[in-house]
Amino acid sequence: MVYIIKSFLTILSFSAAALATVVKIEADITTLSTAVTSLDKSINAYPNTGGTVAGALVIHTEAQGLINDLGTATTDIQATSGLLSLSDGKTILSSVQAIQPVILDALTVLVKKKAALQALPLGGVPAIVLADLKSLNTTAVKFADSLLKICPSALLPQATSIRDSVAVGFSGAIAGYS
Ligand SMILES: *[C@@H]1O[C@H](CO)[C@@H](O)[C@H](O)[C@H]1NC(C)=O
Repeated sequence: MVYIIKSFLTILSFSAAALATVVKIEADITTLSTAVTSLDKSINAYPNTGGTVAGALVIHTEAQGLINDLGTATTDIQATSGLLSLSDGKTILSSVQAIQPVILDALTVLVKKKAALQALPLGGVPAIVLADLKSLNTTAVKFADSLLKICPSALLPQATSIRDSVAVGFSGAIAGYS
């Protein structure tokens, strides 16, 4: 009897991702949301003519910060044992889904700012943007793939579609700067 209860408890504790982990992942996604929103604002605020190197540096620094935040979120997701419960999965995916249009906007507008960045007296800024985009793409896809691994199967189509749409956005932006 004791053995059965123990096994049952063991199964319970491994069957769903621990609450602490879920709270951590949700906090990570809030951080990502803030970072993406701020990056998108800076990109949109960059003027089409007469922009400064300082303004471009803000975009670069925020992109680096976002790469960092994506790495932290991925590490926390990878530390999760077991799948998310359906309800936690839904909450987490809807937070990620809310970020999707913001990152896609940032990527589209960034391509429109290429001429402004090329016109800067300091050469090589578009090359830095391209390097940032490549790193951002890699870390974003890694983040999405790690999330897919802990998603309950019912949520896989939604999670996959978010990942693929963001990946298409990155392909477009990387092509724009290549
Ligand atoms: C984005 O990153 C993924 C994963 O590393 C890679 O497979 C894909 O080719 C990258 N996309 C571009 C446009 O570089």
